[in-house]
Amino acid sequence: MKRTLGVCYYPEHWPKNLWKEDAKRMAEAGLSWVRIGEFAWSKMEPSPGELKFEWLDEIIDILGTAGLSVVLGTPTATPPRWMLEKHPDMLAIDKEGRPRKFGSRRHYCFSHEGYRDECVRIVTLMAERYGKNPHVGAWQTDNEYSCHDTTHSYSDSARSAFKNWLRVRYAGSGNDGDISALNEAWGNVFWSMEYENFDQIDLPNLTVTQPNPSHVLDFRRFSSDQVVSFNRLQTDIIKSYSDAPIAHNFMGKTTEFDHFKVGDDLDIASWDSYPLGFLEDRVVAPDEFKQAFARQGDPDFQAFHHDLYRTVGKGRWWVMEQQPGPVNWAPYNPSPLPGMIRLWSWEAFAHGAEAVCYFRWRQAPFAQEQMHAGLLRPDNADAPAIIEATRVAQEIADASDVEQCISEVALLFDYQSDWMWRTLPQGRGLEYFDLIYDNYRALRGLGLSVDILSTEDDFSKHKLVVAPGLLYMSDDLKERFSKRDGPTVVGPRSGSSTENFGINRPLGPNLPKINVTTTRVETLRPDMPILLEGGGSVKGWSEALESSDHPFRIMANGDLAAVSAGNITYLGGWFDQEALTKVFNEICLKAEIKVIEMPEGLRRRETSNEMFWFNYGTTSVEVAGRTFPPQSVTRDVI
Ligand code: GAL
Repeated sequence: MKRTLGVCYYPEHWPKNLWKEDAKRMAEAGLSWVRIGEFAWSKMEPSPGELKFEWLDEIIDILGTAGLSVVLGTPTATPPRWMLEKHPDMLAIDKEGRPRKFGSRRHYCFSHEGYRDECVRIVTLMAERYGKNPHVGAWQTDNEYSCHDTTHSYSDSARSAFKNWLRVRYAGSGNDGDISALNEAWGNVFWSMEYENFDQIDLPNLTVTQPNPSHVLDFRRFSSDQVVSFNRLQTDIIKSYSDAPIAHNFMGKTTEFDHFKVGDDLDIASWDSYPLGFLEDRVVAPDEFKQAFARQGDPDFQAFHHDLYRTVGKGRWWVMEQQPGPVNWAPYNPSPLPGMIRLWSWEAFAHGAEAVCYFRWRQAPFAQEQMHAGLLRPDNADAPAIIEATRVAQEIADASDVEQCISEVALLFDYQSDWMWRTLPQGRGLEYFDLIYDNYRALRGLGLSVDILSTEDDFSKHKLVVAPGLLYMSDDLKERFSKRDGPTVVGPRSGSSTENFGINRPLGPNLPKINVTTTRVETLRPDMPILLEGGGSVKGWSEALESSDHPFRIMANGDLAAVSAGNITYLGGWFDQEALTKVFNEICLKAEIKVIEMPEGLRRRETSNEMFWFNYGTTSVEVAGRTFPPQSVTRDVI
């Protein structure tokens, strides 16, 4: 697969007399893809049933004639105002019981049957019309599921769909009878929460105090399934009219639905990468770190999502939106340093991307995103990003194709574990994503390349497997751990919960081949880390362990912090960066996995025939006798 570039374009924002010139400039810049359509429902259907596709026919033709390929977005993230007259109850309802009103976007509830039918209708019309159009090279469903906190809705539609979902799960399909399995699974004898029938069950909001965690977890599972089925409605239709691949654009640090499951219905996973916005908005790091990388982004954050979405897309993935300059939505919105647009683009290719598309072509002079940069300024002059994008286009023309390979390390990522941590965090600020990310950072700090896999993926060929925080582990997963020849590092809280979200007995982690029991857990204030012998500390989450196996790490007070037996190691706490780095260093050394300690800001990524080095820092750094200039990309062909 060739490496390609593209751009997100909103022809409906601009007079028609600009379209041909725009297409020509895109092609001259070396772009191949143009994503259009994903917010244009009011232009396709200005009033119910009044269809206006001629403008879309025309722009697709103009782009195609200029040699560009279209990614056609379905417009279901932005239902027009008239939709509300037809379906007044289609809005999502927030946790406090308030409607999430019209006037921006994503104002729909995933469970509303009437809105689902409208989506089926518009997607069918588009697929019929453009399914065989030679200029439509790919599709995108909707836009950023879950954006603006839209996965969970507490509407009447959601409630009735949730009750049906529970019936199927606990009483078998079509049977509204026996509620006892649910009462048992949730532990409803506690606080007299028992139900007599499924109709009595409400959504887990507006309760006097904390709702039952099993109830919350099932609501989260249900809400995730609603996203999956909503997306599948669209992919099923598109597939019956078109052979072009289907993508969805996922987001950064977004965990409210199971992306692996949505990915099963897609041909390509893509995500929207805004390194500077994410650093300010989503990365948990000290202020000095944020200051040092304010104009470059966190050196691990983009890579993390590249490595995750590569798996979601089963090897095929894109960056659908790439930050081109200052955005409008983070607490602070600085400009990237020169060279960063190029670095981010190449970094995506190094992690296996087939395409990187910049968001957006021209900065809009109106509405919510008028302060968001594009490749062109609002006055149509070139913005700095187009110069770097053009350079990347020239470089990829001479570079090799995308090669898939298996990385040295598999880091397991499980959406359900995230929901469990969120439901019972047991301490302020303890988030599963951040635990996984700490592990990822430590691994990359040792120069290792990582695949982020689901718990169901095959990790038998990875040299090292890392699995922190997996509250519920299936027997199959434990079995696969025990069959490995290489090292496996299992982290805090893993195996501590039943599938229904109660405490496992025998107490966790219940791993085969290692005798270790967590007899008690405690959570810690940020200012009370527990020092570990040999360096680093346990922060946030700490377990009291009992074991007859080898003590792998001891706390300064003499208590056990980690245990190992054969090639399995169990870490009974949230180890900080220093401690994780030492643990992985030691384990890799023993397993003869080559590591190299990377200076801050420098990261590398190996493919089957290349080694890439990315310096996010503002100064040159030296490693292994080589110098890497600031904001640079170095590509060695091996
Ligand atoms: C994304 C979204 C785009 C645009 C962009 C601005 O989250 O998909 O439509 O809003 O952010 O950075």
